[in-house]
Amino acid sequence: MQLRPWNTRLTGRIRPPSDKSITHRGVLFSALARGVSEVLDPLDSLDTGASLAVVQNLGVKLIEKTARRWVLESPGYYDLQEPRAVIDCLNSGTTMRLSTGLLAGTRFLTVLSGDESLRERPMARVMDPLRALGVDIRGRQSGKAPLVIQGGPHRGGASFLSVASAQVKSALILAGLSADDPLTIHEVLPTRDHTERLLRAMGASVEIQSDTIKVTPGPVSALTVTVPGDPSSAAYWAALAVLLEGSQLVIEDVSLNAERIGFYRLLRNMGARVEFTMSQEVPEPIGEIRIGWAPLKGVAVGADVVPGLIDELPLVALLGAHAEGTTVVSGAGELRVKETDRIRATTDNLRSLGIEIEERPDGFAVRGGQRVHRGSVKAMGDHRIAMMLAVAGAVADGPIVIEGAEAIEISYPEFFRDYWRFAGE
Ligand code: S3P
Repeated sequence: MQLRPWNTRLTGRIRPPSDKSITHRGVLFSALARGVSEVLDPLDSLDTGASLAVVQNLGVKLIEKTARRWVLESPGYYDLQEPRAVIDCLNSGTTMRLSTGLLAGTRFLTVLSGDESLRERPMARVMDPLRALGVDIRGRQSGKAPLVIQGGPHRGGASFLSVASAQVKSALILAGLSADDPLTIHEVLPTRDHTERLLRAMGASVEIQSDTIKVTPGPVSALTVTVPGDPSSAAYWAALAVLLEGSQLVIEDVSLNAERIGFYRLLRNMGARVEFTMSQEVPEPIGEIRIGWAPLKGVAVGADVVPGLIDELPLVALLGAHAEGTTVVSGAGELRVKETDRIRATTDNLRSLGIEIEERPDGFAVRGGQRVHRGSVKAMGDHRIAMMLAVAGAVADGPIVIEGAEAIEISYPEFFRDYWRFAGE
């Protein structure tokens, strides 16, 4: 795909595509409760389709599927069925990791696999703590998928997570619901808490005390969840609003979950004008974000804020190149085990576009005052790399060619419709 630079600023409003994390959870959690669950305003994308496939393979019926409403009917957790074949989680780490915890207390065998990228991602981070509870879960010797889970009785107790990951934390919380006794999970750093919020709304006992989460086993009731817009998908437009002089953007009906808006807080620290207006707090904080262009300053991003903007860090590299001063990201080694190695993918691609940027083991350093040049880049099968590169193309000094831009279907199928609308074409 070839993209030409925009010759306009970005102005207007957007209701971003619905949140990927919340849609995954709405779908997967429908399997827990007997009866009818609804996901309103779901994100329909390849990734969330993988979660739908998981629950359908377990005997949950998708009784209605329109753009605005997915209706799922579950026989109840202990009446789920053994899947007849290997379940393909496609490219979705969220689907695979959350499913391990969901399956822990069933009474049957499930095999989870995925595409080439997912089969290379680390799964020991969920397998090890689940095994410590007595869950029978195996993977390849390297700690990678395919994964085989023989559900059965398992214990609670205490679980200490080794990485700051909402996916791992969520798998443990789900396993805790079907354990024989309560489970206390100790987090490394706070991460997005959509799982805790939705399960509480379903009547689960999930108590949060600073860095621990206590799950008391028990049944839950079916839930209707209305999915807000995804702050990670809106981040591409927010980045353009701070890159194109004179821009003004309003992001409507978006999740304002405290662990999801780190990128917007960072934009503010870089000098942009950013305002949040909350209109709902429970079960998910939802509202509006207003962003106004202002000259950007370089920043330092450290491990403590990384979970709150993990998926937006490729954009931070691009913004850092345009800011005044240097931008340094550290403590972000997790980026190397995403859909692709996002540190390598970001630095290699930006270099192909003429940006001087230093790759570091756990992040990168980029000096400001630079400009994106024409060139050719590769999405490397990663939706977020592809979208960051499309943003780079809008502010480049000539055309750029992106190989593999179709990876965007994973989380934002309508991305280019919005891209051309904002470009004024
Ligand atoms: C997600 C958590 C994050 C994030 C991913 C979605 C989730 O992964 O990168 O896109 O929905 O829980 P980790 O929890 O592995 O950091």
